[in-house]
Amino acid sequence: MQDIAPGQAPARSIEVSPNNPCPFLRALVAGGYVGGHVVPLTELSATIDRATGKTGLPALIAGGQIFMVALIANGLGPFSQLRSLTKGAILDELRNGPLDKHGAGSRILDQHAVVHEDEIARLATFGKGYPNPDGGTERGLSASDIKTFMAANFQRAKDEHSWSYAILRCYYPLLMLGEWPVLLDIMGKGEGKDRYLSVAEVRTLFVERRFPDRIVALLNR
Ligand code: HEM
Repeated sequence: MQDIAPGQAPARSIEVSPNNPCPFLRALVAGGYVGGHVVPLTELSATIDRATGKTGLPALIAGGQIFMVALIANGLGPFSQLRSLTKGAILDELRNGPLDKHGAGSRILDQHAVVHEDEIARLATFGKGYPNPDGGTERGLSASDIKTFMAANFQRAKDEHSWSYAILRCYYPLLMLGEWPVLLDIMGKGEGKDRYLSVAEVRTLFVERRFPDRIVALLNR
């Protein structure tokens, strides 16, 4: 593995706009699985669907959910949605869009898409050692650790704002359900309540914009 300095991405990966704040989409763009600008919704959902490894009905449901998220990602007005439907999602114009939680997330990526290692270290504090299917134990976050992490992220943002924040932004926890828990679903290791999101793999995703080999194999199918 290449040795990557904190906050740096490897030289060989494709550049990704700082206005794409989603670590998952950033890795898809960096790996050349989708373009970095306008991506048709069907292409985007089919690509993400491949990464999930799901087939049959679960794949159809996952694809439909991704399609709906991508449909509203660049704006909620009828014109935005018509444009998204006919042309696609604009991946380098996601920042400040309806899905941007403005600091109520992990804060691993700032608004310039610079990675903050201290926030990765903070994420790790919500995890613990889990049995690694490849052997030994590994630090990671289970579904319940992720729930605690997301609640803490929202609370942190709430504490920094007035009471009105909690009312106006009450839908943020709902948005979060489509992020970390879905990442656990796709990239998680182990089964059942011991299924966990590896902190090391989260770091690679954010810093190197690279998926674990098993996800790359699914994407290359
Ligand atoms: C299954 C696919 C996806 C996964 C696993 C995923 C996962 C994530 C994760 C883990 C975050 C980071 C949240 C944080 O730092 O706390 C995030 C943020 C984000 N995602 Fe995705 N995502 C997916 C698909 C999408 C799609 C299709 C879009 C839109 C086209 C999207 C747009 C965003 C945006 C705008 C953010 C920034 C939210 C913020 O910083 O407040 N994501 N995503």
